[in-house]
Amino acid sequence: MSALLEVNELRVAYGKVEAVKGISFTVDAGQVVTLIGTNGAGKTTTLQALSGQLLPSAGSIRFDGQDLAGVPAHKVVSLGLAHSPEGRHIFPRLTVEENLLLGAYIRKDDPSIAEDIERSYELFPRLRERRSQPAGTMSGGEQQMLAMARALMCRPSLLMLDEPSMGLSPIMMQKIMATVAELKASGTTILLVEQNARAALALADHAYVMETGRIVLSGTGAELLHDESVRKAYLGED
Ligand SMILES: Nc1ncnc2c1ncn2[C@@H]1O[C@H](COP(=O)(O)OP(=O)(O)O)[C@@H](O)[C@H]1O
Ligand SMILES: [Mg+2]
Repeated sequence: MSALLEVNELRVAYGKVEAVKGISFTVDAGQVVTLIGTNGAGKTTTLQALSGQLLPSAGSIRFDGQDLAGVPAHKVVSLGLAHSPEGRHIFPRLTVEENLLLGAYIRKDDPSIAEDIERSYELFPRLRERRSQPAGTMSGGEQQMLAMARALMCRPSLLMLDEPSMGLSPIMMQKIMATVAELKASGTTILLVEQNARAALALADHAYVMETGRIVLSGTGAELLHDESVRKAYLGED
């Protein structure tokens, strides 16, 4: 069986500065795959190229049997690749429910949208309580729940999460990671970028370590959790 996502020798540049320098990795259906690495390694740039927000300068992206090179962002979403971006980017003045509806914009007026909203509220009961509240008045953790729920509204076959636990309290971080585990258990395929390497590796079927635009190490989550260089560089051990 071929991979759901297959990235081959991907390069992405900002002007003359190359941020992603020829990376290759795959995500199989049903897997959680994580990209870890320090600030500036190129993780966000990679996800933005996958979701059609940045144009790669070289390499190929195959998703669900299709070539994604040059496919614009709205089309990528409709092919089933959803992106919950770094920094969340929810619409602060719109209500929680309006934000969720925008996540389903590719299926305007479809009655199944109501079912998907209900599923969001089952996954995140907190969002149901706050459904009529402007999203910008919620806590960071609640806004993160909304960003994830909104990405799921397009019924993606691959969900990309960029730093879902960034800036959250330890308790909220645990809650968000528990939800990622719940999504995994229900069969959602996830590409996870996380600063909390320990939590990400614990969940991941496969993991890649990025440094300055390159993948320098890969293995199963368990292998990298026990790798000495990873423990020193990313898990705060010496
Ligand atoms: N909009 C941009 N313009 C120019 N350089 C950028 C831009 N966004 C990111 N970069 C640079 O690209 C590199 C990779 O950044 P990024 O993908 O955000 O890394 P990460 O998500 O791993 O922290 C960094 O050197 C960063 O400074
Ligand atoms: Mg980033």
